[in-house]
Amino acid sequence: MSRTIIVSNRLPTKVQRNAEGLTFQPSEGGLATGLGSIYRADGNVWVGWPGLFVDDPAEQAEVTERLKSDSMAPVFLTEAEIRDYYEGFSNSTLWPTFHYFSQFATYEDAHWAAYVAANQKFCEAVLALTGPEDTIWVQDYQLLLLPEMLRKARPNATIGFFLHIPFPSFELLRVLPWGNELLRGMLGADLIGFHTYGYMRHFLSAVTRMLGLPTQNGQIETPTRTVLVDAFPMGIDYERYAETAASEAALAHERTYREALRDVRVVLSIDRLDYTKGIAQRLRAFEQLLINHDEWCGKVSLLMVVVPSRDQVAQYASLKEEIDELVGRINARHGSISWNPIHYFYRSFPFDELVSLYRLADVALVTPVRDGMNLVAKEYIACKTDQRGVLILSERAGAAVELTDALLINPTNTNQLVEALHEALVMPEEEQTTRMSNLQALVQQYNVFAWTQLFMDRLAYSKIKQHTLS
Ligand code: UDP
Ligand code: G6P
Repeated sequence: MSRTIIVSNRLPTKVQRNAEGLTFQPSEGGLATGLGSIYRADGNVWVGWPGLFVDDPAEQAEVTERLKSDSMAPVFLTEAEIRDYYEGFSNSTLWPTFHYFSQFATYEDAHWAAYVAANQKFCEAVLALTGPEDTIWVQDYQLLLLPEMLRKARPNATIGFFLHIPFPSFELLRVLPWGNELLRGMLGADLIGFHTYGYMRHFLSAVTRMLGLPTQNGQIETPTRTVLVDAFPMGIDYERYAETAASEAALAHERTYREALRDVRVVLSIDRLDYTKGIAQRLRAFEQLLINHDEWCGKVSLLMVVVPSRDQVAQYASLKEEIDELVGRINARHGSISWNPIHYFYRSFPFDELVSLYRLADVALVTPVRDGMNLVAKEYIACKTDQRGVLILSERAGAAVELTDALLINPTNTNQLVEALHEALVMPEEEQTTRMSNLQALVQQYNVFAWTQLFMDRLAYSKIKQHTLS
């Protein structure tokens, strides 16, 4: 029987070590939460890193056994691989470059070498687990070389690739000393997917200009094969969010939060700690709201969840300090004995508590300066079962292409953000309901199951097309 093997750097389960031993928790991040609902079907397997350095063979065996029972297979990274491949090339070179933060990018030959070697390690792990009939679906920027490596080992394999982050303009890509190798790596796939047509167009233009390959109608002619390229905006498991939002557990959490907050209106923000998310800009805009529209002082609070992420990378560590300082300063300046302008949490929340926060929020403030998609925006929509609430969304998130009934803003335009916040807080209920029901119809229809089906159907089509041509 043919199965689908999903390969990503991070598994949807993260292993942590505490005094009692190993713990197994859901991972954060859109890739893991989005695909988490679909991989268990039909004997599928998800191959990836469990998020922890494990070198003891007994512990490795324990992790492997435990993950196996949940259709996952671990790739254990060494400390040097975590430093040079994960924190290094993936998150200090590719992540900033692809999000238009070239000024943060480092260009280290040793990191590149580690990236090549780690992709090879994933390749060997996948080959050991798959047969020639299996479909291999490679995910995201940490594994750009893997499709080509797999293709060399298995020339006829069915290989899909999906990029979960933006694909930048060719001008950004050509700054990278290894741009051509990265593009060739991706072209090992039969189908390459992006969240938006904009990212897809950037990729096609980079392939033509850097590799000189002809492209037409989302098709690339390589010397050996035709590769299809398309846009597939990723969705969420809508029913899981909507059903949990209607559950007794979520209602109970919401009641507890509401009692603590009394009648203060709630603006919610939820992100991994990342400079792409516009967290500092958002804090400044919230403070400006309290200054420009001081009628909101004492009446609205920002509830801000920041999930720890990549804290060994210098830019992330300094952003953490900047956020801590801004929150402290704003609360000290504007707060009172009975009202906190900002409730700040630097940790992740269990699923049903997260859902209650979405339920509770009058406004969701999603303001990344760059974001491949942004699933938080879609999760907020799915949880608003009473159709009240307003989404403020950055026009530079992939999600903005679909979610046009949100209040779309430019995250670096503080005045626009402040006015959008005010507009959201005074928006008549009727308008909230109209916008929210339009958004819900869309997010419900294009859910993560539809996304997977579209990608898989197109991947199967790419194979049929190649066979007819050969
Ligand atoms: N998330 C989570 N726990 C938390 C906060 C957030 O699992 O405490 C999840 C959130 O539900 C969402 C994901 O992290 O599914 C973030 O995905 P998004 O696409 O918004 O951004 P990314 O982190 O992938 O850049
Ligand atoms: C984004 C990336 C994912 C990544 C996630 C969390 O969603 O597209 O590939 O897994 O962030 O980041 P981390 O570095 O913790 O895996």
